[in-house]
Amino acid sequence: MTARRPAGTPEPATTREPATTPESAPPESALPESAPPVPAPGLEVVDATVRYGSLLALDDVSLRVDFGRVCGLIGVNGSGKSTLFKTIMGLVAADAGSVRIAGESIARARTRATVSYVPQHEDVDWGFPVSVRDVVMMGRYPHQGFTRRPRAADRAAVADAIERVGLSDLAGRQIGRLSGGQKRRVFVARGIAQGARVLLLDEPFAGVDTTSQSLITDLLRELAADGAAVLVSTHDLTTLPDLADEAALLLRRLVAQGPPADVLRPDVLSQAFGLSIQDGTP
Ligand SMILES: Nc1ncnc2c1ncn2[C@@H]1O[C@H](COP(=O)(O)OP(=O)(O)OP(=O)(O)O)[C@@H](O)[C@H]1O
Ligand SMILES: [Mg+2]
Repeated sequence: MTARRPAGTPEPATTREPATTPESAPPESALPESAPPVPAPGLEVVDATVRYGSLLALDDVSLRVDFGRVCGLIGVNGSGKSTLFKTIMGLVAADAGSVRIAGESIARARTRATVSYVPQHEDVDWGFPVSVRDVVMMGRYPHQGFTRRPRAADRAAVADAIERVGLSDLAGRQIGRLSGGQKRRVFVARGIAQGARVLLLDEPFAGVDTTSQSLITDLLRELAADGAAVLVSTHDLTTLPDLADEAALLLRRLVAQGPPADVLRPDVLSQAFGLSIQDGTP
């Protein structure tokens, strides 16, 4: 991927136009006072194009999520949502484009635990003898260095995250002995325990009941209110306005991004879902 300058950062000095003559430069006092630096957005994807062999999965996608905002990523099956998450995390190689997390490269954001990612499909051996608490503690690994020895702060973050997803009673249970919805909540808790400022969640509502869904929705809203940038994919268009400050509609290209009410308009949705949609559900 091409490394590009993130929005809001000054251009490198080498690319500035040189003054034509010394006389043409304005006197020092006439220079505008230097503006305060513009903070980088939580997440910025610029012109990302991804192919799997001959299949074009993402076509020149640009997406920005500011800190303090929840962006709901929607689109039909196969529209590229998971590919976009994997591209952001550097798990698939993009043919073109750039990704910045809080103004940093993805490699640096991962090392510094700035970003957490809850994939759509967890590659997990459910028979493995680890508890809910153990899995959530994995979110603390980036904070523990090579020793991976949990400290009091790690244990407190884990207990807090488990409580926030409503699994305190099951914290000691082996992960294979959970329902599907409870399993999803464990991985959301792992992302929260990490303490990341940028959260990426690929279909956290898949297979969860309405109680778990509203619990996770409230949690994501709280995290954004505390300043996090959240990108979350969902197929539930009905609850999107409760979840997200803005919606991004993907069909290999970004068809629309804006307030949910604007993106959920039938004429916009029909471009991406190929259906005549009257009530906001495909
Ligand atoms: N590893 C892969 N190799 C080849 N093609 C892939 C691979 N992963 C995804 N694809 C294809 O890329 C396209 C986008 O897939 P992706 O999983 O990103 O869609 P999605 O929007 O997440 O779908 P869903 O709603 O079903 O989760 C699809 O056509 C899919 O078949
Ligand atoms: Mg997917």
